[in-house]
Amino acid sequence: MPHAQIVGWGMYVPSRVVANDSFVKMGLDTSNEWIASRTGIEERRLVGKNEATSDLAVKASLQALHTAGAHAGDIDLIIVATCTPDHVMPSTASLVQTRLGATRAGAMDLNAACSGFVYALATGAGQIESGRAKQVLVVGADELSIHLDWKDRNTCVLFGDGAGAVLLRASQEAGVLSSTMGSDGSGADLLIIPAGGSRIRANHNGKSNRNANGDQYLKMNGPQIFRWATQMMAKASEDVMAASGLKPEQVDLFIPHQANLRIIEATARRVGIPSQKVFSNVGHYGNTSAASIPIALCEAIAAGRVKRGDNILLSSFGAGLSWAALAVRWGVSVQARPTPWSPLRLQIETRMAAVRSALRKQNRRVRTSIDSTLHRDQD
Ligand code: COA
Repeated sequence: MPHAQIVGWGMYVPSRVVANDSFVKMGLDTSNEWIASRTGIEERRLVGKNEATSDLAVKASLQALHTAGAHAGDIDLIIVATCTPDHVMPSTASLVQTRLGATRAGAMDLNAACSGFVYALATGAGQIESGRAKQVLVVGADELSIHLDWKDRNTCVLFGDGAGAVLLRASQEAGVLSSTMGSDGSGADLLIIPAGGSRIRANHNGKSNRNANGDQYLKMNGPQIFRWATQMMAKASEDVMAASGLKPEQVDLFIPHQANLRIIEATARRVGIPSQKVFSNVGHYGNTSAASIPIALCEAIAAGRVKRGDNILLSSFGAGLSWAALAVRWGVSVQARPTPWSPLRLQIETRMAAVRSALRKQNRRVRTSIDSTLHRDQD
């Protein structure tokens, strides 16, 4: 059976940095001290008006292709984990696919909220292990800021925007060792954006048409999520370690979902992984939802925390309620750099992809108009 190895990685965060003090300046009843001590968050990145989720996803994906030295045209499947897609349809993955020029790839979105990236990684690995795909691009990208009520101190200080991506490739050597996914929909109301779907519809100005309760905003019972998350992330981590035949001392790096430093520390304590093996960057980005783990992975690599042969444990939780964990043996050298012309090649390839995509669109228009002329003549 082929194994699924992570061979490329990339991240992108918007350039706008928003520090905790900005909320105080906005008139919110909070303080840097409260946010930092209760969550570990010091700042986050927020998108500008014209930056959609696919824009972030494409930038992270290009970097992942670059580190892998891979061609977009060789990707078999693209999975974008997101709960903030560009549109209800088409999928954000399809938009990423055409912009990368991944002409052979299937494309789909996966929504498991903040657990989405680990769900997507497990799904992509399954495709490779079954022999149905050789290369799968897995992206976690979210802009939860578009659903935040900036007057609600319980939620707006916690989240940020960003994207991370990895390229999975079939290999004879071990890669993804094991994974687990779980869900408990009885807790759906604990973390929810009520409007915008089929239950409570959004009207054209983006507001719920049922009531004025701010149903378009993210709503959360923080303390209940907190208690559940520390238990659930620990349980999922233990399950996946057992399935992978790993003891806590054999885990070289633990990258949990970056939502709250206290949840991260409590989980690591429960699982028995010492703090020096835990990676956290929640202080700089807040909770970037499906992007949090791939962004943390990229920064862990950049910080020299990952080397060939390492056992890395990923664990996440989120709305659903949902949770997932995955263990992976790192199989590639992080020092190995692709050829120097790779960024240029990627730039040329994406320009060509844009031209190809525009030509296909034009071609479709011409065909439609020819078809309708012919039909008119026949009538
Ligand atoms: N600034 C100041 N006070 C705040 C605040 C803020 N930004 N946000 C909430 N509070 C207040 C609340 O209004 C509440 O006040 P009250 O007691 O007068 O009603 C109080 O702080 C809550 O305190 P406490 O229960 O001790 O908070 P906490 O230690 O549970 O921390 C969270 C609150 C939200 C930080 C924490 O529960 C949490 O991180 N939960 C998980 C959330 C999460 O990860 N969600 C994403 C899942 S993917």
